[in-house]
Amino acid sequence: MHKQKLIGANFESTRIVYGCMNLGNNRNRGELTENQMRSEAVKTINAALEQGINFFDHADIYGKGKSEEMFSEIWKLHSGLREKIILQSKCGIRFEGDPKSDSPHRFDFTYEHIINSVEGSLKRLKTEYLDILLLHRPDPLVEPEEVAKAFDDLRWSGKVKYFGVSNHTGYQIDLLKKYVTQPLIVNQLEINLIHSDLINAGVITNQRNPKDFIRGEGTLDYCRLNDITIQAWSPLALGSYDDNSNLSEMISEIAKSRNVSKEAIVTAWLLKHPAKIQPVIGTRRPERIEAICKADSIELTRDEWYKLFIAGRGEDLP
Ligand SMILES: NC(=O)c1ccc[n+]([C@@H]2O[C@H](COP(=O)([O-])OP(=O)(O)OC[C@H]3O[C@@H](n4cnc5c(N)ncnc54)[C@H](OP(=O)(O)O)[C@@H]3O)[C@@H](O)[C@H]2O)c1
Repeated sequence: MHKQKLIGANFESTRIVYGCMNLGNNRNRGELTENQMRSEAVKTINAALEQGINFFDHADIYGKGKSEEMFSEIWKLHSGLREKIILQSKCGIRFEGDPKSDSPHRFDFTYEHIINSVEGSLKRLKTEYLDILLLHRPDPLVEPEEVAKAFDDLRWSGKVKYFGVSNHTGYQIDLLKKYVTQPLIVNQLEINLIHSDLINAGVITNQRNPKDFIRGEGTLDYCRLNDITIQAWSPLALGSYDDNSNLSEMISEIAKSRNVSKEAIVTAWLLKHPAKIQPVIGTRRPERIEAICKADSIELTRDEWYKLFIAGRGEDLP
């Protein structure tokens, strides 16, 4: 699989990232036992490695810690693997009931929470360091000075090499950058053919009565201007592109002409974007991982890209 230099970091990353959120998670999986989920997780990670993927995305909250913990099984199977892969995790979301029974679901960018969260991730992942740490979702009560101190302490203790954000607008990143001196090199955002709003935002600028009010306008341009790598979460829209018959037919037609699966075309649509977007894929099925990774060897034409974009947004361009 092709690699690209991650701007601002000293490593090369595959264009496709494997997202570990669904490992250790029973959703749509019937009643798997913990051991069955553990062996499924190992098979899935192995399948991603076999496709050449060298970048794995986590969060402290995935599977309430189970995803990171199950991922650590992989060290037993491949000696020397840690130095060959990029491990990213996230912090800042807290579930209802944490730590007190009446604590609400909330976001938390306090110094104490960031440091504790990283300590927990390192322990579960059984690693000495994270390559990248992201702030998961903007915290309206953020004090950027506290984030700055937490990032400095994590960087200088060797626990985290690089930093970034997720679901942040350009203004929110600028606010952090007023105090945070560690470079912010990643912004992970929801982008796919069904939820193409951040791309669409640039297209409908200056239009009267756009169908939907788009938040986050300018976010992609901001990231490109500031050398922040954009990662696309839910890049396959959990397979929901099949609910839009026009789009589904269009994807099938292009997939047939390219002799690849529909999953590969949906992923290739993201890879075609000049921002060098990294899709963060979440399927647990080895055969789907293989099918998706075929996207790395095809490039859609501009016409194909626009046909898919228009079918996905559900109306013609202005
Ligand atoms: N930063 C954030 O706020 C945020 C939010 C959400 C996710 N993420 C990251 O993004 C990663 C991917 O998220 P995701 O799992 O929602 O993304 P996805 O790759 O779009 O969807 C994968 C999920 O959809 C199911 N699926 C159904 N039909 C499918 C099809 N035709 N092709 C592919 N998958 C299909 C898969 O089930 P099977 O396993 O049965 O294939 C799997 O549960 C996560 O693991 C996480 O790392 C980040």
